[in-house]
Order: sequence, then C-alpha cells, then structure tokens
Amino acid sequence: MTTHEQWQLTMRAAELYERYPARYILGPCVSSLVDAARLVPGERVLDVACGTGVVARAAAKRVSPSGRVVGVDLNPGMIAVARSLSATSDSPIEWLERAMEADFSSAGVSVSQVDLHLPRIDKFVLDHLSATPVAADIDAADEEARRKLGASVMEQLQRYADRDGITYQEETCVLTARAG
Ligand SMILES: C[S@@+](CC[C@H](N)C(=O)[O-])C[C@H]1O[C@@H](n2cnc3c(N)ncnc32)[C@H](O)[C@@H]1O
Repeated sequence: MTTHEQWQLTMRAAELYERYPARYILGPCVSSLVDAARLVPGERVLDVACGTGVVARAAAKRVSPSGRVVGVDLNPGMIAVARSLSATSDSPIEWLERAMEADFSSAGVSVSQVDLHLPRIDKFVLDHLSATPVAADIDAADEEARRKLGASVMEQLQRYADRDGITYQEETCVLTARAG
C-alpha cells in the first residue's frame, strides 16, 4: 500500500486526528517547529502534508497580517477539518487537496524535550489509532478486544500515571532542509 493510499482516511478519522494527536501530541511541539523556521510578518509559508492544519494556523499568526500560508494535504477529510477551523473571510490560509513530492538535501536536526500529557490513556489510544492508517482495523474490533487493548496500554504505561492520564517526556526532532 502506498503512503497516498494509507492516508485516505474518513472524515471521522480526520476529526479524531484534530481532537487527539494534533492537540495532545503534535500541539506541544508546534512552537519549536515554527521557531525553527524563524517566520516574520509578511512571509509566505507552504505547509506540506498539513493534516488538520495545526502548524499552518500557528505559522499564520507569525506572518500576519500581510503574509500568507498555503496548507496542502492529499486527504480530503484533513483538508475539510482544516478549512472549518479557519473559516473566516480574513483568514490568511488557503487549503489545497493535493499530493506532493519533494527531494531534500543538507538536512539539519535540532532535538529538544517536551512534556506530553495524554488524558484517559485507555480511551486515548483507541481514538488516536482511529485517526491513523490502522483506523479500519481498530474500528472493526469488538468491545472486548478494544477494552483489552486499552487496558493493556494503561498497564504498560502505569509508571507515567499522572492526574487523569499519563505524562511523559518526548524527544522532538525538528528537521530543517533545503529542497533540491
Ligand atoms: C501524521 S499526519 C501529520 C499532519 C500535520 N503535519 C500535523 O502536524 O498535524 C501526516 C499527513 O500527511 C499527509 N500526506 C502523506 N503523504 C502526503 C503527500 N505525498 N502529499 C500531501 N500530503 C501527504 C496525510 O494525508 C496526513 O494528513
């Protein structure tokens, strides 16, 4: 299966993507990514594989009011959710449904640590997986299999238990590269 086929997710999966991984896992890393791009007002930004647009929205705040952002993703559900979250007439973001390819050279990586908090990890893991290319398998699982999967993840991650879920330190790698 190609990457294009894997990411042909349903609208529901795209909505879950925004509610779980985009908010709790990618959200805390967004500022280090846009910091690395050193965006200033007036610049134009292309966010390739933008998903539901968490990075594009952060970039738009940095380049406003005169800059522009274009978010591109091959998945119609992701683009529909992204569009619904920036649906004002003065939004500086344009959303395009399209597959893209690029070659990169001279890549550099900067590594930092962020604390991630995931609420109700037994439920979170199921909702998270329902927003990825394994969504169909997770959605087809019966209640018992889903309960076992959630309970097993909760047990494995018990040492990170905190408040209503888990908190752990994640290494984030921001890669900057020049398109060849
Ligand atoms: C893990 S998500 C990341 C989304 C977003 N960058 C974020 O941080 O939330 C990967 C996204 O890449 C998109 N994608 C994968 N291959 C692509 C391609 N060749 N062109 C455009 N989008 C692509 C998928 O549809 C999916 O929305």
